[in-house]
Amino acid sequence: MSEEDPRILELRAMRAKAREGGGTDRIQKQHAKGKATARERIETLLDPGTFNELEPFITSHLDDMSLSTQKYLGDGVVTGYGQIEGRIVYIYAQDFTIYGGTLSEMQSHKICHVMDLALRNGAPCVGLLDSGGARIQEGVKALGGYAEIFRRNAQYSGVIPQISVMLGPCAGGAAYSPALQDLIIMVEKQSFMFLTGPEVIKAVTGEVIDAESLGGSAIHMAVSGVAHLAAKDEHAALGLVRKFLAYLPSNNVENPPFLPNSDDPARMDESLNRLIPVDPSEPYVMHQAIETVVDKGTFLEIQPAWARNAIVGLARIGGHSVGIVAQEPAVMAGVIDIDASDKMTRFVRMCDCFNVPLVTFVDSPGFLPGIAQEHGGIIRHGAKLLYAYSEATVPKICIITRKAYGGAYVVMSSKYLGTDVTYAWPSAEIAVLGSEGAVNILFKKQIEAASDPAAERKQLAQEYREKFNNPYQAASTGYVDDIIEPRETRAKVIAALSALHDKYAPAPPRKHGNIPV
Ligand code: HXC
Repeated sequence: MSEEDPRILELRAMRAKAREGGGTDRIQKQHAKGKATARERIETLLDPGTFNELEPFITSHLDDMSLSTQKYLGDGVVTGYGQIEGRIVYIYAQDFTIYGGTLSEMQSHKICHVMDLALRNGAPCVGLLDSGGARIQEGVKALGGYAEIFRRNAQYSGVIPQISVMLGPCAGGAAYSPALQDLIIMVEKQSFMFLTGPEVIKAVTGEVIDAESLGGSAIHMAVSGVAHLAAKDEHAALGLVRKFLAYLPSNNVENPPFLPNSDDPARMDESLNRLIPVDPSEPYVMHQAIETVVDKGTFLEIQPAWARNAIVGLARIGGHSVGIVAQEPAVMAGVIDIDASDKMTRFVRMCDCFNVPLVTFVDSPGFLPGIAQEHGGIIRHGAKLLYAYSEATVPKICIITRKAYGGAYVVMSSKYLGTDVTYAWPSAEIAVLGSEGAVNILFKKQIEAASDPAAERKQLAQEYREKFNNPYQAASTGYVDDIIEPRETRAKVIAALSALHDKYAPAPPRKHGNIPV
Protein backbone atom coordinates (compact mmCIF):
# COMPACT_ATOMS: atom_id res chain seq x y z
CA MET A 1 0.00 0.00 0.00
CA SER A 2 1.35 3.42 -0.92
CA GLU A 3 2.00 6.07 1.78
CA GLU A 4 -0.73 8.70 2.31
CA ASP A 5 0.10 12.15 0.94
CA PRO A 6 1.35 14.17 3.96
CA ARG A 7 -0.90 17.07 2.96
CA ILE A 8 -3.92 14.78 3.33
CA LEU A 9 -2.62 13.66 6.71
CA GLU A 10 -2.16 17.27 7.75
CA LEU A 11 -5.74 18.09 6.74
CA ARG A 12 -7.02 15.17 8.78
CA ALA A 13 -5.02 16.34 11.78
CA MET A 14 -6.31 19.88 11.38
CA ARG A 15 -9.88 18.66 11.15
CA ALA A 16 -9.43 16.54 14.26
CA LYS A 17 -8.00 19.56 16.06
CA ALA A 18 -10.97 21.71 14.99
CA ARG A 19 -13.34 19.07 16.33
CA GLU A 20 -11.56 19.20 19.67
CA GLY A 21 -12.67 22.82 20.21
CA GLY A 22 -11.15 24.17 23.41
CA GLY A 23 -9.59 20.79 24.26
CA THR A 24 -10.59 17.56 25.91
CA ASP A 25 -10.48 19.00 29.44
CA ARG A 26 -12.98 21.70 28.60
CA ILE A 27 -15.16 19.21 26.71
CA GLN A 28 -15.19 17.03 29.82
CA LYS A 29 -16.13 20.06 31.90
CA GLN A 30 -18.97 20.79 29.50
CA HIS A 31 -20.20 17.18 29.69
CA ALA A 32 -19.90 17.20 33.49
CA LYS A 33 -22.41 20.06 33.53
CA GLY A 34 -24.82 17.83 31.59
CA LYS A 35 -24.21 19.93 28.46
CA ALA A 36 -23.34 18.68 25.00
CA THR A 37 -20.72 20.24 22.74
CA ALA A 38 -21.62 22.47 19.80
CA ARG A 39 -21.05 19.67 17.28
CA GLU A 40 -23.01 17.13 19.31
CA ARG A 41 -25.91 19.58 19.46
CA ILE A 42 -25.85 20.11 15.69
CA GLU A 43 -25.91 16.34 15.13
CA THR A 44 -28.93 16.04 17.44
CA LEU A 45 -30.81 18.83 15.68
CA LEU A 46 -30.26 17.99 12.03
CA ASP A 47 -31.29 15.02 9.89
CA PRO A 48 -28.47 12.45 10.28
CA GLY A 49 -25.44 13.00 8.08
CA THR A 50 -26.67 16.26 6.53
CA PHE A 51 -24.37 18.76 8.28
CA ASN A 52 -21.70 20.52 6.24
CA GLU A 53 -19.41 22.78 8.19
CA LEU A 54 -18.11 26.13 6.93
CA GLU A 55 -15.04 28.07 7.99
CA PRO A 56 -13.81 25.59 10.63
CA PHE A 57 -10.26 26.94 10.46
CA ILE A 58 -11.04 30.54 11.36
CA THR A 59 -9.18 31.71 14.43
CA SER A 60 -9.39 34.75 16.64
CA HIS A 61 -7.10 37.69 15.89
CA LEU A 62 -6.03 37.37 19.52
CA ASP A 63 -4.71 33.89 18.79
CA ASP A 64 -3.00 35.15 15.65
CA MET A 65 -1.21 37.88 17.59
CA SER A 66 -0.36 35.68 20.56
CA LEU A 67 3.16 34.29 20.94
CA SER A 68 1.61 31.08 22.15
CA THR A 69 1.33 28.35 19.56
CA GLN A 70 -2.17 27.56 20.85
CA LYS A 71 -4.84 28.42 18.30
CA TYR A 72 -8.46 27.56 18.81
CA LEU A 73 -9.79 26.59 15.42
CA GLY A 74 -13.31 27.80 14.74
CA ASP A 75 -13.12 30.67 17.22
CA GLY A 76 -15.90 29.46 19.49
CA VAL A 77 -18.63 28.81 16.97
CA VAL A 78 -19.46 25.96 14.60
CA THR A 79 -21.33 27.10 11.49
CA GLY A 80 -22.74 25.51 8.35
CA TYR A 81 -25.88 24.08 6.82
CA GLY A 82 -27.87 20.88 6.95
CA GLN A 83 -31.43 19.64 6.77
CA ILE A 84 -34.47 19.30 9.00
CA GLU A 85 -37.14 16.95 7.60
CA GLY A 86 -35.36 17.25 4.27
CA ARG A 87 -35.49 21.08 4.20
CA ILE A 88 -32.33 23.21 4.23
CA VAL A 89 -31.49 25.19 7.37
CA TYR A 90 -28.44 27.29 8.17
CA ILE A 91 -27.01 26.92 11.62
CA TYR A 92 -24.50 28.31 14.08
CA ALA A 93 -23.68 26.73 17.43
CA GLN A 94 -21.49 28.52 19.94
CA ASP A 95 -18.72 26.41 21.40
CA PHE A 96 -18.45 27.14 25.12
CA THR A 97 -15.13 25.28 25.28
CA ILE A 98 -13.44 28.12 23.36
CA TYR A 99 -13.35 31.39 25.32
CA GLY A 100 -16.74 30.52 26.82
CA GLY A 101 -18.41 30.74 23.39
CA THR A 102 -17.92 34.51 23.57
CA LEU A 103 -18.41 36.73 20.58
CA SER A 104 -15.33 38.00 18.81
CA GLU A 105 -14.88 39.81 15.51
CA MET A 106 -14.23 36.55 13.66
CA GLN A 107 -17.02 34.67 15.43
CA SER A 108 -19.34 37.44 14.28
CA HIS A 109 -17.97 37.09 10.75
CA LYS A 110 -18.80 33.37 10.78
CA ILE A 111 -22.31 33.88 12.13
CA CYS A 112 -23.03 36.69 9.66
CA HIS A 113 -21.82 34.51 6.79
CA VAL A 114 -24.40 31.79 7.50
CA MET A 115 -27.08 34.40 8.12
CA ASP A 116 -26.35 35.91 4.70
CA LEU A 117 -26.42 32.50 3.05
CA ALA A 118 -29.73 31.74 4.79
CA LEU A 119 -31.20 34.96 3.46
CA ARG A 120 -29.92 34.55 -0.08
CA ASN A 121 -31.21 31.00 -0.22
CA GLY A 122 -34.51 31.59 1.57
CA ALA A 123 -33.89 29.15 4.40
CA PRO A 124 -34.33 29.38 8.19
CA CYS A 125 -31.38 30.29 10.37
CA VAL A 126 -31.03 28.52 13.73
CA GLY A 127 -28.64 29.64 16.47
CA LEU A 128 -27.60 27.37 19.34
CA LEU A 129 -26.34 29.75 22.01
CA ASP A 130 -24.02 29.14 24.92
CA SER A 131 -21.95 32.24 25.51
CA GLY A 132 -20.48 34.69 27.98
CA GLY A 133 -21.41 37.59 25.67
CA ALA A 134 -18.91 39.99 24.16
CA ARG A 135 -15.33 38.70 24.36
CA ILE A 136 -13.80 41.16 26.74
CA GLN A 137 -10.28 41.01 25.26
CA GLU A 138 -11.57 42.09 21.84
CA GLY A 139 -13.12 45.28 23.12
CA VAL A 140 -14.99 47.33 20.53
CA LYS A 141 -14.40 44.69 17.84
CA ALA A 142 -16.68 42.33 19.77
CA LEU A 143 -19.29 45.06 20.19
CA GLY A 144 -19.15 45.86 16.49
CA GLY A 145 -19.49 42.14 15.81
CA TYR A 146 -22.74 42.10 17.72
CA ALA A 147 -23.99 45.12 15.81
CA GLU A 148 -23.35 43.27 12.53
CA ILE A 149 -25.51 40.39 13.80
CA PHE A 150 -28.28 42.61 15.21
CA ARG A 151 -28.59 44.52 11.95
CA ARG A 152 -29.01 41.27 10.06
CA ASN A 153 -31.49 39.95 12.64
CA ALA A 154 -33.62 43.04 12.08
CA GLN A 155 -33.27 43.22 8.30
CA TYR A 156 -33.91 39.51 7.76
CA SER A 157 -36.85 39.50 10.18
CA GLY A 158 -39.99 38.53 8.29
CA VAL A 159 -37.96 37.16 5.37
CA ILE A 160 -36.59 33.93 6.86
CA PRO A 161 -37.50 32.27 10.17
CA GLN A 162 -34.86 32.94 12.83
CA ILE A 163 -34.72 30.75 15.91
CA SER A 164 -32.49 30.84 18.99
CA VAL A 165 -32.01 27.96 21.37
CA MET A 166 -30.44 29.05 24.63
CA LEU A 167 -28.33 26.18 25.93
CA GLY A 168 -26.21 27.86 28.58
CA PRO A 169 -25.50 31.35 29.81
CA CYS A 170 -26.47 34.05 27.32
CA ALA A 171 -25.22 37.32 28.70
CA GLY A 172 -25.27 40.83 27.26
CA GLY A 173 -25.29 40.83 23.49
CA ALA A 174 -25.99 37.10 23.51
CA ALA A 175 -29.47 37.96 24.77
CA TYR A 176 -30.26 40.75 22.31
CA SER A 177 -29.78 38.77 19.12
CA PRO A 178 -32.34 36.15 20.22
CA ALA A 179 -34.70 38.92 21.30
CA LEU A 180 -34.75 40.13 17.67
CA GLN A 181 -35.66 36.67 16.35
CA ASP A 182 -38.93 34.77 15.89
CA LEU A 183 -38.55 32.16 18.60
CA ILE A 184 -36.50 31.70 21.77
CA ILE A 185 -36.30 28.25 23.31
CA MET A 186 -34.71 27.75 26.74
CA VAL A 187 -33.63 24.72 28.76
CA GLU A 188 -34.89 24.50 32.31
CA LYS A 189 -32.21 25.11 34.96
CA GLN A 190 -29.50 25.21 32.25
CA SER A 191 -29.96 28.37 30.24
CA PHE A 192 -29.87 31.89 31.62
CA MET A 193 -30.49 35.11 29.79
CA PHE A 194 -29.69 38.55 31.10
CA LEU A 195 -28.14 41.80 30.00
CA THR A 196 -26.19 42.31 33.21
CA GLY A 197 -25.31 39.29 35.29
CA PRO A 198 -25.48 38.78 39.06
CA GLU A 199 -21.96 40.07 39.61
CA VAL A 200 -22.59 43.35 37.82
CA ILE A 201 -25.90 43.81 39.65
CA LYS A 202 -24.15 43.25 42.97
CA ALA A 203 -21.45 45.77 42.11
CA VAL A 204 -23.89 48.43 40.90
CA THR A 205 -26.88 48.04 43.21
CA GLY A 206 -25.65 45.79 46.01
CA GLU A 207 -28.47 43.34 45.28
CA VAL A 208 -27.58 39.66 45.53
CA ILE A 209 -29.42 37.38 43.15
CA ASP A 210 -28.60 34.02 41.57
CA ALA A 211 -28.59 33.45 37.80
CA GLU A 212 -31.68 31.22 37.83
CA SER A 213 -33.80 33.77 39.72
CA LEU A 214 -32.47 36.56 37.52
CA GLY A 215 -32.93 35.08 34.07
CA GLY A 216 -33.67 31.36 34.15
CA SER A 217 -36.33 29.75 31.96
CA ALA A 218 -38.98 29.99 34.69
CA ILE A 219 -38.55 33.78 34.74
CA HIS A 220 -38.51 34.29 30.99
CA MET A 221 -41.38 31.87 30.38
CA ALA A 222 -43.73 33.15 33.09
CA VAL A 223 -42.66 36.64 34.18
CA SER A 224 -40.81 38.59 31.47
CA GLY A 225 -42.36 36.93 28.41
CA VAL A 226 -38.97 37.02 26.66
CA ALA A 227 -38.81 33.25 25.96
CA HIS A 228 -41.38 31.36 23.90
CA LEU A 229 -40.78 27.71 24.75
CA ALA A 230 -38.85 25.78 27.40
CA ALA A 231 -37.76 22.16 27.57
CA LYS A 232 -36.53 19.85 30.32
CA ASP A 233 -33.26 19.09 28.54
CA GLU A 234 -31.20 19.95 25.47
CA HIS A 235 -32.52 17.06 23.43
CA ALA A 236 -36.12 18.13 23.96
CA ALA A 237 -35.22 21.77 23.23
CA LEU A 238 -33.70 20.82 19.88
CA GLY A 239 -36.77 18.67 19.16
CA LEU A 240 -38.90 21.80 19.58
CA VAL A 241 -36.95 23.52 16.79
CA ARG A 242 -37.86 20.70 14.40
CA LYS A 243 -41.46 20.80 15.55
CA PHE A 244 -41.78 24.58 15.20
CA LEU A 245 -40.22 24.72 11.73
CA ALA A 246 -42.70 22.12 10.43
CA TYR A 247 -45.45 24.77 10.65
CA LEU A 248 -43.51 27.47 8.82
CA PRO A 249 -42.43 28.00 5.24
CA SER A 250 -38.69 28.36 4.64
CA ASN A 251 -39.18 32.02 3.73
CA ASN A 252 -41.78 34.73 3.28
CA VAL A 253 -42.54 34.00 -0.36
CA GLU A 254 -43.42 30.36 0.24
CA ASN A 255 -46.56 29.00 1.84
CA PRO A 256 -46.29 26.80 4.93
CA PRO A 257 -46.04 23.08 4.19
CA PHE A 258 -49.41 21.32 3.81
CA LEU A 259 -49.19 18.04 5.72
CA PRO A 260 -52.35 15.93 5.55
CA ASN A 261 -52.88 13.55 8.45
CA SER A 262 -55.27 10.85 9.56
CA ASP A 263 -57.65 13.15 11.48
CA ASP A 264 -60.98 13.26 9.60
CA PRO A 265 -61.61 16.80 8.27
CA ALA A 266 -65.38 16.21 8.66
CA ARG A 267 -65.04 15.09 12.30
CA MET A 268 -67.80 16.63 14.44
CA ASP A 269 -67.17 16.49 18.14
CA GLU A 270 -70.41 16.54 20.13
CA SER A 271 -68.53 17.61 23.26
CA LEU A 272 -68.10 21.07 21.70
CA ASN A 273 -71.87 21.57 21.70
CA ARG A 274 -71.83 21.08 25.48
CA LEU A 275 -68.67 23.08 26.23
CA ILE A 276 -70.13 26.53 26.94
CA PRO A 277 -71.98 26.71 30.28
CA VAL A 278 -75.50 28.12 30.14
CA ASP A 279 -74.62 30.57 32.92
CA PRO A 280 -72.43 33.21 31.18
CA SER A 281 -70.46 33.89 34.36
CA GLU A 282 -69.25 30.28 34.59
CA PRO A 283 -65.83 29.65 33.06
CA TYR A 284 -64.84 26.85 30.69
CA VAL A 285 -61.50 25.91 29.22
CA MET A 286 -60.78 27.36 25.77
CA HIS A 287 -57.78 25.05 25.38
CA GLN A 288 -60.32 22.24 25.22
CA ALA A 289 -62.13 23.91 22.29
CA ILE A 290 -58.84 24.47 20.45
CA GLU A 291 -57.57 20.92 20.97
CA THR A 292 -60.90 19.53 19.77
CA VAL A 293 -61.11 21.65 16.62
CA VAL A 294 -57.51 21.23 15.37
CA ASP A 295 -55.96 18.04 14.01
CA LYS A 296 -55.36 15.77 16.99
CA GLY A 297 -52.12 16.41 18.86
CA THR A 298 -50.93 19.22 16.58
CA PHE A 299 -51.36 22.25 18.85
CA LEU A 300 -47.98 23.72 19.77
CA GLU A 301 -48.70 26.41 22.30
CA ILE A 302 -46.23 29.31 22.37
CA GLN A 303 -45.58 31.22 25.62
CA PRO A 304 -47.97 28.94 27.53
CA ALA A 305 -47.04 30.23 30.99
CA TRP A 306 -47.00 34.00 30.34
CA ALA A 307 -50.17 36.12 30.03
CA ARG A 308 -52.23 32.96 30.36
CA ASN A 309 -55.46 34.90 29.79
CA ALA A 310 -54.43 34.83 26.13
CA ILE A 311 -53.54 31.75 24.11
CA VAL A 312 -51.31 31.68 21.03
CA GLY A 313 -49.87 28.72 19.16
CA LEU A 314 -49.39 26.87 15.92
CA ALA A 315 -51.52 23.93 14.82
CA ARG A 316 -52.82 22.05 11.81
CA ILE A 317 -56.42 21.95 10.73
CA GLY A 318 -57.15 19.51 7.91
CA GLY A 319 -53.39 19.52 7.28
CA HIS A 320 -53.23 23.32 6.86
CA SER A 321 -50.77 25.10 9.11
CA VAL A 322 -52.55 27.81 11.17
CA GLY A 323 -51.83 30.26 13.94
CA ILE A 324 -54.33 30.08 16.77
CA VAL A 325 -55.08 33.17 18.85
CA ALA A 326 -57.62 33.02 21.65
CA GLN A 327 -58.66 34.07 25.10
CA GLU A 328 -58.69 31.66 28.02
CA PRO A 329 -61.90 32.44 29.97
CA ALA A 330 -60.64 30.16 32.74
CA VAL A 331 -57.85 32.71 33.48
CA MET A 332 -58.92 36.22 34.52
CA ALA A 333 -62.14 35.63 32.53
CA GLY A 334 -60.10 36.04 29.34
CA VAL A 335 -59.72 39.77 29.85
CA ILE A 336 -57.21 41.57 27.59
CA ASP A 337 -54.42 43.28 29.55
CA ILE A 338 -51.04 44.73 28.60
CA ASP A 339 -49.15 41.44 28.52
CA ALA A 340 -51.93 39.62 26.65
CA SER A 341 -51.94 42.41 24.04
CA ASP A 342 -48.18 42.13 23.56
CA LYS A 343 -48.31 38.34 23.38
CA MET A 344 -51.08 38.24 20.78
CA THR A 345 -49.64 41.11 18.71
CA ARG A 346 -46.25 39.54 18.25
CA PHE A 347 -47.76 36.21 17.33
CA VAL A 348 -50.21 37.70 14.81
CA ARG A 349 -47.34 39.53 13.11
CA MET A 350 -45.15 36.42 13.02
CA CYS A 351 -47.94 34.42 11.36
CA ASP A 352 -48.61 37.23 8.91
CA CYS A 353 -45.02 37.58 7.76
CA PHE A 354 -44.73 33.83 7.16
CA ASN A 355 -48.09 33.38 5.40
CA VAL A 356 -49.64 31.33 8.21
CA PRO A 357 -53.44 31.84 8.29
CA LEU A 358 -54.91 33.08 11.56
CA VAL A 359 -57.77 31.38 13.37
CA THR A 360 -59.02 33.44 16.31
CA PHE A 361 -61.34 32.22 19.06
CA VAL A 362 -62.93 35.06 21.01
CA ASP A 363 -64.30 35.03 24.54
CA SER A 364 -63.38 38.18 26.39
CA PRO A 365 -65.18 40.74 28.50
CA GLY A 366 -62.84 43.38 27.02
CA PHE A 367 -59.79 45.28 28.20
CA LEU A 368 -58.85 45.07 31.88
CA PRO A 369 -60.04 48.22 33.64
CA GLY A 370 -57.95 49.92 36.33
CA ILE A 371 -55.31 52.48 37.12
CA ALA A 372 -52.39 50.06 36.81
CA GLN A 373 -53.35 49.15 33.27
CA GLU A 374 -54.17 52.70 32.19
CA HIS A 375 -50.95 54.08 33.66
CA GLY A 376 -49.00 51.16 32.22
CA GLY A 377 -50.13 52.22 28.76
CA ILE A 378 -52.89 49.75 27.91
CA ILE A 379 -54.00 52.16 25.16
CA ARG A 380 -50.59 51.88 23.51
CA HIS A 381 -50.35 48.13 24.02
CA GLY A 382 -53.92 47.38 22.97
CA ALA A 383 -53.41 49.55 19.89
CA LYS A 384 -50.63 47.18 18.81
CA LEU A 385 -53.11 44.37 18.62
CA LEU A 386 -55.52 46.45 16.55
CA TYR A 387 -52.63 47.39 14.32
CA ALA A 388 -51.46 43.80 13.91
CA TYR A 389 -54.87 42.39 12.99
CA SER A 390 -55.61 45.31 10.65
CA GLU A 391 -52.24 44.99 8.95
CA ALA A 392 -52.30 41.19 8.57
CA THR A 393 -53.10 40.08 5.02
CA VAL A 394 -53.09 36.31 5.61
CA PRO A 395 -56.44 34.49 5.61
CA LYS A 396 -58.21 35.45 8.84
CA ILE A 397 -61.00 33.38 10.35
CA CYS A 398 -62.72 34.28 13.59
CA ILE A 399 -64.99 32.28 15.87
CA ILE A 400 -66.83 34.10 18.66
CA THR A 401 -67.54 31.43 21.23
CA ARG A 402 -69.08 33.60 23.95
CA LYS A 403 -68.30 37.12 25.13
CA ALA A 404 -67.15 39.68 22.60
CA TYR A 405 -67.76 42.82 24.56
CA GLY A 406 -66.68 46.26 23.48
CA GLY A 407 -62.99 46.45 22.64
CA ALA A 408 -62.67 42.69 22.70
CA TYR A 409 -65.13 42.40 19.80
CA VAL A 410 -63.39 45.03 17.72
CA VAL A 411 -59.78 44.15 18.46
CA MET A 412 -60.00 40.37 18.23
CA SER A 413 -60.07 39.93 14.47
CA SER A 414 -63.45 41.59 13.96
CA LYS A 415 -64.97 41.53 10.49
CA TYR A 416 -64.22 45.14 9.65
CA LEU A 417 -60.60 44.85 10.68
CA GLY A 418 -60.44 42.71 7.55
CA THR A 419 -61.34 39.26 8.83
CA ASP A 420 -62.42 37.08 5.92
CA VAL A 421 -64.86 34.74 7.63
CA THR A 422 -66.49 35.37 11.02
CA TYR A 423 -68.52 32.70 12.78
CA ALA A 424 -70.42 32.93 16.04
CA TRP A 425 -71.53 30.09 18.24
CA PRO A 426 -75.13 30.32 19.55
CA SER A 427 -73.64 31.23 22.94
CA ALA A 428 -72.00 34.38 21.50
CA GLU A 429 -72.75 37.66 23.25
CA ILE A 430 -71.70 40.56 21.07
CA ALA A 431 -72.35 43.90 22.74
CA VAL A 432 -70.69 47.11 23.85
CA LEU A 433 -70.87 46.07 27.50
CA GLY A 434 -71.99 43.10 29.58
CA SER A 435 -75.65 43.26 30.58
CA GLU A 436 -75.08 44.37 34.21
CA GLY A 437 -72.72 47.17 33.24
CA ALA A 438 -74.98 48.30 30.40
CA VAL A 439 -78.18 48.59 32.44
CA ASN A 440 -76.37 50.35 35.28
CA ILE A 441 -75.51 53.12 32.82
CA LEU A 442 -78.60 53.13 30.59
CA PHE A 443 -81.21 52.80 33.35
CA LYS A 444 -79.44 54.43 36.30
CA LYS A 445 -82.38 56.69 37.23
CA GLN A 446 -84.99 53.99 36.71
CA ILE A 447 -83.08 51.57 38.98
CA GLU A 448 -82.60 54.19 41.71
CA ALA A 449 -86.30 55.10 41.63
CA ALA A 450 -87.50 51.48 41.83
CA SER A 451 -88.94 50.15 45.10
CA ASP A 452 -86.52 47.20 44.86
CA PRO A 453 -83.46 48.49 42.89
CA ALA A 454 -81.69 45.11 42.93
CA ALA A 455 -84.70 43.29 41.50
CA GLU A 456 -85.20 46.03 38.93
CA ARG A 457 -81.54 45.81 37.86
CA LYS A 458 -81.78 42.03 37.56
CA GLN A 459 -84.94 42.24 35.49
CA LEU A 460 -83.51 44.91 33.17
CA ALA A 461 -80.25 42.96 32.76
CA GLN A 462 -82.21 39.87 31.82
CA GLU A 463 -84.17 41.83 29.20
CA TYR A 464 -80.97 43.41 27.86
CA ARG A 465 -79.28 40.02 27.64
CA GLU A 466 -82.19 38.52 25.73
CA LYS A 467 -82.36 41.45 23.34
CA PHE A 468 -78.71 42.28 22.71
CA ASN A 469 -76.33 39.66 24.12
CA ASN A 470 -76.84 37.10 21.40
CA PRO A 471 -75.35 36.48 17.98
CA TYR A 472 -78.58 37.17 16.06
CA GLN A 473 -78.38 40.94 16.50
CA ALA A 474 -74.86 40.93 15.01
CA ALA A 475 -75.86 38.44 12.28
CA SER A 476 -78.90 40.53 11.29
CA THR A 477 -76.64 43.48 10.57
CA GLY A 478 -73.89 41.49 8.85
CA TYR A 479 -71.31 41.76 11.63
CA VAL A 480 -70.88 37.99 11.71
CA ASP A 481 -71.09 35.84 8.62
CA ASP A 482 -72.96 32.90 10.11
CA ILE A 483 -74.00 31.29 13.35
CA ILE A 484 -72.82 27.69 13.60
CA GLU A 485 -73.10 24.79 16.01
CA PRO A 486 -69.81 24.47 17.87
CA ARG A 487 -69.38 20.88 16.60
CA GLU A 488 -69.37 22.19 13.02
CA THR A 489 -66.39 24.47 13.68
CA ARG A 490 -63.67 22.12 12.44
CA ALA A 491 -65.32 21.48 9.08
CA LYS A 492 -66.23 25.14 8.66
CA VAL A 493 -62.66 26.30 9.37
CA ILE A 494 -61.20 23.73 6.97
CA ALA A 495 -63.62 24.83 4.25
CA ALA A 496 -62.72 28.47 4.88
CA LEU A 497 -58.99 27.73 4.74
CA SER A 498 -59.43 26.06 1.34
CA ALA A 499 -61.59 28.92 0.08
CA LEU A 500 -59.07 31.52 1.26
CA HIS A 501 -55.97 29.67 0.13
CA ASP A 502 -55.23 32.02 -2.76
CA LYS A 503 -56.16 35.21 -0.94
CA TYR A 504 -54.55 38.25 -2.51
CA ALA A 505 -54.72 41.40 -0.44
CA PRO A 506 -51.70 43.59 -1.11
CA ALA A 507 -51.06 46.40 1.35
CA PRO A 508 -50.71 49.96 0.06
CA PRO A 509 -47.08 50.71 -0.82
CA ARG A 510 -45.09 52.33 1.98
CA LYS A 511 -41.66 52.15 3.53
CA HIS A 512 -43.06 50.60 6.69
CA GLY A 513 -45.79 51.38 9.15
CA ASN A 514 -45.31 52.95 12.53
CA ILE A 515 -46.72 50.40 14.97
CA PRO A 516 -47.17 51.80 18.49
CA VAL A 517 -44.55 50.07 20.62
C1 HXC B 1 -13.85 36.54 27.52
C2 HXC B 1 -14.86 34.94 28.82
C3 HXC B 1 -16.00 35.76 28.98
C4 HXC B 1 -16.00 37.04 28.31
C5 HXC B 1 -16.34 33.93 30.01
N1 HXC B 1 -15.13 33.82 29.49
N2 HXC B 1 -16.92 35.11 29.72
N3 HXC B 1 -13.81 35.33 28.10
N4 HXC B 1 -14.91 37.37 27.59
N5 HXC B 1 -17.07 37.84 28.34
C6 HXC B 1 -14.21 32.68 29.54
C7 HXC B 1 -13.65 32.44 30.92
O1 HXC B 1 -12.51 33.19 31.13
C8 HXC B 1 -13.34 30.94 30.86
O2 HXC B 1 -12.14 30.75 30.13
C9 HXC B 1 -14.43 30.39 29.97
O3 HXC B 1 -14.94 31.50 29.22
C10 HXC B 1 -15.57 29.78 30.75
O4 HXC B 1 -16.03 30.74 31.72
P1 HXC B 1 -16.29 30.37 33.26
O5 HXC B 1 -16.49 31.64 33.99
O6 HXC B 1 -15.21 29.44 33.72
O7 HXC B 1 -17.62 29.52 33.15
P2 HXC B 1 -18.89 29.54 34.09
O8 HXC B 1 -18.48 29.43 35.52
O9 HXC B 1 -19.80 28.51 33.55
O10 HXC B 1 -19.55 31.01 33.89
C11 HXC B 1 -19.95 31.43 32.63
C12 HXC B 1 -20.41 32.90 32.67
C13 HXC B 1 -19.31 33.79 33.29
C14 HXC B 1 -21.72 33.02 33.49
C15 HXC B 1 -20.74 33.31 31.23
O11 HXC B 1 -18.06 33.46 32.66
C16 HXC B 1 -19.58 35.24 33.13
O12 HXC B 1 -20.37 35.84 33.87
N6 HXC B 1 -18.93 35.84 32.12
C17 HXC B 1 -19.05 37.29 31.87
C18 HXC B 1 -20.39 37.64 31.29
C19 HXC B 1 -20.46 39.05 30.86
O13 HXC B 1 -20.62 39.94 31.68
N7 HXC B 1 -20.21 39.26 29.58
C20 HXC B 1 -20.08 40.56 28.94
C21 HXC B 1 -21.45 40.99 28.53
S1 HXC B 1 -21.40 42.59 27.87
P3 HXC B 1 -11.18 29.50 30.36
O14 HXC B 1 -9.95 29.82 29.60
O15 HXC B 1 -10.97 29.38 31.85
O16 HXC B 1 -11.89 28.31 29.80
C22 HXC B 1 -21.88 42.39 26.31
C23 HXC B 1 -22.00 43.69 25.57
C24 HXC B 1 -22.84 43.56 24.34
O17 HXC B 1 -22.12 41.34 25.85
C25 HXC B 1 -23.93 44.54 24.37
C26 HXC B 1 -24.71 44.51 23.10
C27 HXC B 1 -25.96 45.33 23.20
